[in-house]
Amino acid sequence: MNTITHRPGKPSPNPDTTATMRAIVQEHYGSSDTWRLTEIDHPEIEAHEVLVQVDAAGLDRGTWHLMTGRPYLMRIMGFGLRSPKNRVPGLAVAGTVAAVGADVSRFEVGDEVFGVSRGAFAEYAAAREDKLAPKPSTLTFEQAAAVPVSATTAFQGLRLGRIAAGQKVLIIGASGGVGTYAVQLAKASGTEVTGVCSTAKADLVRSLGADHVIDYATEDATEGSRRYDLILDIAGNASLRHLRRALNPTGNLVIVGGESKGTLTGGFGRSLRAPLVSIFVRPRLTMLTSSEHHADLVPLTDLIDAGRLTPSIDQTYRLDQAPEAMRQLEAGTARGKICITIASPPPPRRTTLLSASRSTTGSGMVPSSKTIASASITALNSASVTSAVAEEHAANAKTIAPRPTAARCLLMMSRLQARTIVASVSRPRTDDPGRRS
Ligand SMILES: NC(=O)c1ccc[n+]([C@@H]2O[C@H](COP(=O)([O-])OP(=O)(O)OC[C@H]3O[C@@H](n4cnc5c(N)ncnc54)[C@H](OP(=O)(O)O)[C@@H]3O)[C@@H](O)[C@H]2O)c1
Repeated sequence: MNTITHRPGKPSPNPDTTATMRAIVQEHYGSSDTWRLTEIDHPEIEAHEVLVQVDAAGLDRGTWHLMTGRPYLMRIMGFGLRSPKNRVPGLAVAGTVAAVGADVSRFEVGDEVFGVSRGAFAEYAAAREDKLAPKPSTLTFEQAAAVPVSATTAFQGLRLGRIAAGQKVLIIGASGGVGTYAVQLAKASGTEVTGVCSTAKADLVRSLGADHVIDYATEDATEGSRRYDLILDIAGNASLRHLRRALNPTGNLVIVGGESKGTLTGGFGRSLRAPLVSIFVRPRLTMLTSSEHHADLVPLTDLIDAGRLTPSIDQTYRLDQAPEAMRQLEAGTARGKICITIASPPPPRRTTLLSASRSTTGSGMVPSSKTIASASITALNSASVTSAVAEEHAANAKTIAPRPTAARCLLMMSRLQARTIVASVSRPRTDDPGRRS
């Protein structure tokens, strides 16, 4: 049952949580032609969840994987064998809290939030409270919805790669959803950044602060004499051999993604091999399994509100245009992120009002200042961060031990396979909280 608390002075939400809502619904795996706009019931929230009245949603590759059911490995991992377990697509969300579960302590009705939900392409979405944070005050809902999945991935990838000021960093896939954040975060960390993208988007990557831009159509970034301390490999599927060659002996490779036509493991093959190869060779090769979490949304918010990180949005579509939005993502023409706005009709008349006795703690945990922003950069830079937030970061980051014993290797491999396939997709509703979303 959905529970509602209301903080005085906050805008009153639509209290009718038994009403229907407009949502994109998908009954079978397939292309965006399987998406249709329809009326369904509001989602029920669990005790630790929040009901978000959605203003905007972000589109990302993870949503594409969940739509197509590819690579197939993810189907047997709990996302639905023949059809998606969650019928409403969409992960990244920005909106206003409309109801809270009984165990929610961070948020109250009326709070403006952003984060990751299940079913963001709808007027209402359920989200775990630990996957939300207060919306950056300087962003619109649309901009905020562009942040949670992609910026978190960039942030965690650079941290896993042990980014430090003064390094030379190569970002392959610099003009995409993840890359546009990675370039800005790497620059804010005091590194020299080389971004790889297509000719058409070189100006964008430069405008984000990249010192050098390589056009992948005319130049192989891993060829030549340039050596990097950190390579964030988001796209392109360069071979591990080539990537290693472009690294300094003490450097770090972080494989984030890369699409391929393979249907069983998709573009994840390199991600699976990298930690294994890393047992035997230097430099350190790792793969990222990102996990959107409140603890990383907060420092990102600091950076945004301090003006050091800005979402790069190419296009915004209406909810009924979601299939069109997905076609643009597939075409690869977006410069940065694609968003979807959900314009709600006037609230329906109240039929049921649920009340709650939950005490309120407030959520004001994100003071915006340059001091906080530089602390966030420090947290990103430092390999041995000690602050509470940074410790939480470390707990959430799935770092691959560089030299595991041979006996642990096989066990690791199977766990990695599981984690990697779901790295850019959402957690099925029945997952336990320890797994990534
Ligand atoms: N590991 C994780 O936890 C995790 C989390 C989120 C996402 N991911 C994965 O990360 C990948 C990228 O996500 P995204 O949202 O950034 O995708 P995106 O917005 O579609 O961006 C793709 C980027 O790849 C570039 N690119 C395309 N072909 C390339 C090539 N041959 N060589 C070099 N660069 C090339 C594109 O450049 P142009 O547009 O200029 O052509 C663009 O910058 C996906 O595979 C996704 O599944 C992984």
